[in-house]
Amino acid sequence: MDRPALYITRLLPPPVLEAIPQQYRLLTSPSDDPPTVTELRQGFAEADAVICTLSDRIDASLLSHATRLKIIANYAVGYNNIDVVAAAQRGIVVSNTPDVLTEATADLTWALLLAVARRVAEGDRWVRTGTWPGWRPTQMLGGEVSGKTLGIIGMGRIGQAVARRAVGFGMPVIYAGRHAVVSPPGVAWTQRSLPEVLSESDFLSLHVPLTDATYHLIGRQELPAMKPTSFLLNTSRGPVIDETELIAALEAGTIAGAGLDVYEQEPVVSSRLLTLPNVVLLPHLGSATLETRVRMGLVCVKNVAAVLDGRTAPNQVR
Ligand code: DGY
Repeated sequence: MDRPALYITRLLPPPVLEAIPQQYRLLTSPSDDPPTVTELRQGFAEADAVICTLSDRIDASLLSHATRLKIIANYAVGYNNIDVVAAAQRGIVVSNTPDVLTEATADLTWALLLAVARRVAEGDRWVRTGTWPGWRPTQMLGGEVSGKTLGIIGMGRIGQAVARRAVGFGMPVIYAGRHAVVSPPGVAWTQRSLPEVLSESDFLSLHVPLTDATYHLIGRQELPAMKPTSFLLNTSRGPVIDETELIAALEAGTIAGAGLDVYEQEPVVSSRLLTLPNVVLLPHLGSATLETRVRMGLVCVKNVAAVLDGRTAPNQVR
């Protein structure tokens, strides 16, 4: 019998590729560059299992070529890149990589929070120009972090991991989310309405999946409700924020700054954002540590193996 065919759309860290069981036949040698539409189509047409990434758009038209495909293992926790309804209609399992990237993404959220409030990237750029005149009492004054209120929208795994880190900064945490969550011993996370979280937070961090309901969750009406001294952080998905409205708010100074890891039209970043000093811009680094990216890959391999062996995928979505 033919070995099952596995299509991996992108180069993954070597330990992941080494963990792929010998009994699978790799359709292509994975490359760092995104596949073309034709390559994706061919891969989906020939594969029994696919490991794909968040920037591969897996829509109904692509899935119509997938006549023997049993599982799409998405190398991400978010799976808004996949038409899961169309996949389910074809009996194709979709899996994701929850848990293993929670801590890395929470760490990066804090890197953004500290960087934008304390003007870390801006200061680094200045020193590199060789024009820094030396310490001055009024120089590059940023926003205080310790003791300020951290607001979280979306109190799932990553939101809670971000909230846990606030203890060390003595920051009260308020959150808006569908469900009340249990605070860890000794701290009190307070559930509030979205308008309350918007108006009371000094730092507002977004941790919702991208769905029809969260598209442009933060936009024309929400940004003016934030404090002019507040900072917005996004390590979830770009389209959760209406980027045009955010840029207008940053330009007008109706919020103090933003730390962004994700963008509406990735990898295109608005030229207006690039010129703003009060933003820190990262290239979608949320899960980008070697350890985490290896764990994510191993989760994908495990889900593929389960389905190809006739078992339930441990991380099947919905
Ligand atoms: C995810 O898994 O959804 C992250 O955005 C990957 O970095």
